[in-house]
Order: sequence, then C-alpha cells, then structure tokens
Amino acid sequence: MNFDFTYYTPTKIYFGRNALLNLRTELPKYGPTVLMVYGRNSIKKNGLYDAVMEYMKEAGKTVVELSGVMSNPTADKLREGVELARKHKVDLVLAVGGGSVVDCSKGIAASAKAEGDVFTRFWVNQEEVTNDTLPVAAVLTMAGTGSEMNTGSVITETATKQKIGRLFDERLAPRFSILNPEYTMTLPEYQMKSGIFDTFSHLMEQYFSDTEVTTSDYLNEGLMRGLIANARKAVANPTDYEARSNLMWAATVALNGLMGLGKSQDWNVHGIEHQIGAYTDCAHGMGLAAISPTYYRHIYKNGLPRFVAFARNVWDICDDSLSDEEVALAGIDALENFMRECGMYPTLAELGVTEDMIDDIAKTATIYGGYKKVSSAEVADILREAM
Ligand code: NZQ
Ligand code: ZN
Repeated sequence: MNFDFTYYTPTKIYFGRNALLNLRTELPKYGPTVLMVYGRNSIKKNGLYDAVMEYMKEAGKTVVELSGVMSNPTADKLREGVELARKHKVDLVLAVGGGSVVDCSKGIAASAKAEGDVFTRFWVNQEEVTNDTLPVAAVLTMAGTGSEMNTGSVITETATKQKIGRLFDERLAPRFSILNPEYTMTLPEYQMKSGIFDTFSHLMEQYFSDTEVTTSDYLNEGLMRGLIANARKAVANPTDYEARSNLMWAATVALNGLMGLGKSQDWNVHGIEHQIGAYTDCAHGMGLAAISPTYYRHIYKNGLPRFVAFARNVWDICDDSLSDEEVALAGIDALENFMRECGMYPTLAELGVTEDMIDDIAKTATIYGGYKKVSSAEVADILREAM
C-alpha cells in the first residue's frame, strides 16, 4: 500500500469557557474592516452577538454584517456576501455560527477577489482558486461538521437542486477557531443529535475503506467509542459540560484530516445525503442517519474485515460462535440500536423525501467509490428501503 501523505492544519484552536477572550489578541492582527457572518437569530438570543461586538468595538473595527445565513447555505447567500466583501473591502471574514455559517464564510473568503460566477467556477466546475483570498476565522456554535478546522465548504444552488462540497487549499482553513462548548448548550436537541451523527458519519466514511492503516484506524475506533459514550451522556443530560466538550472536540478532530491519513475513504453516504438535502433542506446529520444502516448493510460484504473490526473494537461483539458475516451484521445492528436509543434514526419520509424524488436524488448523487461503486439503481433501492 501507498502510505505517503502531507499533513498540515494551519488553524489555531482556542477551546474552553473563556476562549472568546482570545479575540482580544487575534482581531488586532487583521485590517480595520471585518465582515461578520451569522445565521438567523440564535446568536442574538443567546448573547454571543453582543459579546463579539464588544470585542470588535474594543479593537476599533468597522463591522459589516451578513446575517440570515441559512442551514444548507445557498449560492445566492454566498453571492450576497461576496458583494458585501467587495464593496467594503473587508480585511477578515469572521463566521459566528454553525457549519453553514463557517462554510459560507470560507466561500466568501475564496471568492471576494475572483471574477465571474463563483458558484459555477469553484463549486460546479471545481476550479482551483488562483486569486488572492481573504483570511477567515470562526466562533463556532454547533458541533458536527468539523468546518472549523478544515478547508471544506458546502453550498446549495436551490434553483438547480445542486448541493456541492468543495475542498479549498490551506489559505481557506480558518486562521483561528474559538470553541466554547457552552455556546452549543442553546442548540435545539434535534440539532445537537444531528451534529453528533454527522461526526459519527465522518468517522465511518474514513474508517470503512479498503486501505488498512492501523494508526488511523485505531485512533478512529477510539474516537468512535468516546463519541458513543458522550452522546449517551449528552442525550440524557444536554447540559453536561464535559460530555458537550468531548463531543465538540471529537467533531473537530473527526474531520480535520487526521483520521483519513493514508486511507482511501468512502464518502458515498455524504454524496447521497447532499442530494437529499438539496431536495428537502433537511438537517445534514439527520439525512446521513436516515440512510447509513441501510447503506452499510448493502456494502458490508465488500469490506468484511473492517466491518468485523468495527463490530469487535467499537461495539465489543466478541461471540466466537458467530461467522464473520454475522459479526459484521451484529456491528451494524448495534449502530442502529444506538441511533434508535438516542433518537437519531429518522426515516427519509420524516425528512420530507417523497417517492417522486427518489430517482432524481439517486441519479444526481455523487458516488465517490469506497468498497463498492454503487449504481444509481442501487442508490434508489437504498433510498426506498430508508423511507
Ligand atoms: O441560523 P441560526 O439561528 O444560527 O440557527 C442554526 C440553524 O438553524 C442553529 N444553531 C446553530 N448554533 C446554535 C443554533 N441554535 C441555537 N443555539 C446555537 N448555539 O442550528 C441550525 C443548524 O445550523 P447549521 O450551521 O446549518 O448546522 P451544521 O453545523 O450541521 O452545518 C450544516 C452544513 O454544513 C455542511 C452541511 O452539508 C450543511 O450544509 N457540511 C460541511 C462540512 C465541512 N465544511 O467540512 C462537512 C459536513 O459533512 C457537511 O457537509
Ligand atoms: Zn457531514
């Protein structure tokens, strides 16, 4: 196997209850005008907006605001932010919110100095960003996507129903990210669970692939075990600071590149979910949850040893009388039971998928590879089973 890689993560992480204080040392490093990007009203309700504004004032910044960034941020919202960034010649894009806000901010930072329709160029055509970019940073309010420490940005064009993920170069990784688990306490329980399953899915997408990298795989199994334990604690008591802290940090590490080093990776569940999201606007993690057990039962025979390891090392299934296939299936059953126990196993119908959407979602979903290159007919079967 080819075990070569380059690993570089330029994001400085400030983690903990007082992490926001670090704006005092970070903000002066950038020019006078900051584009502050946020969602609908959660940061105004929980006081974070006022707290960030205080630090802006103290640092003498001129603040331009892009508000109303929606879940599954749209290309039109991105274009609106790009216009603002150009008009006010901003020096820093500061995201204050969840993954959608961070993704939109990275998109703006990539596009402000580009020409033409940036969604077509950078997302649809996946053009390399050769223009100058703006620095981007984040104050995170929802754990799950890992966007706070990676270069990804997922944008949806609603008119054409295209939800597309884009990986930028290292210039678009947040320069710094502020992670205070207390900010996640005001999340509705549904969003907390969506984020938890998103993290779980990121781990599984990297784990279930045919390159065995013992270091990455054992790290991943450890993270999965921790995630399961802390998810149970947070679901039982959402104000458990320790559990919420562990979940927040696990989400960051799950998708900052570390878990995938040397691995071929799968990402088909994400490729399918992105189109479910484009058609229904569902919460990303819930879309992943709805199809994961069905998808894994569909492909497990193609990657049997790793599914056996998942069952044994993550779920402690140690019955020697079982065949490998039985052990692998017991692991997927354990995953499903855990999801049901935590209230994160919706049907696709509950997320708004209707029968007439299925073939279109299946045909437009991106299939990356992994153990099995599933056809669109197979994707449609998986979707129907998950209804
Ligand atoms: O708009 P507001 O009022 O802020 O409400 C948001 C939103 O309704 C709310 N929320 C966030 N923090 C809160 C809060 N409500 C109360 N208290 C808080 N502290 O939660 C809702 C969901 O937020 P959103 O940012 O949409 O969720 P998430 O973090 O799951 O981001 C989802 C987006 O990220 C993409 C997804 O596809 C989706 O578009 N992803 C990005 C990735 C990346 N960049 O690496 C990877 C992921 O796999 C994913 O695809
Ligand atoms: Zn995800």
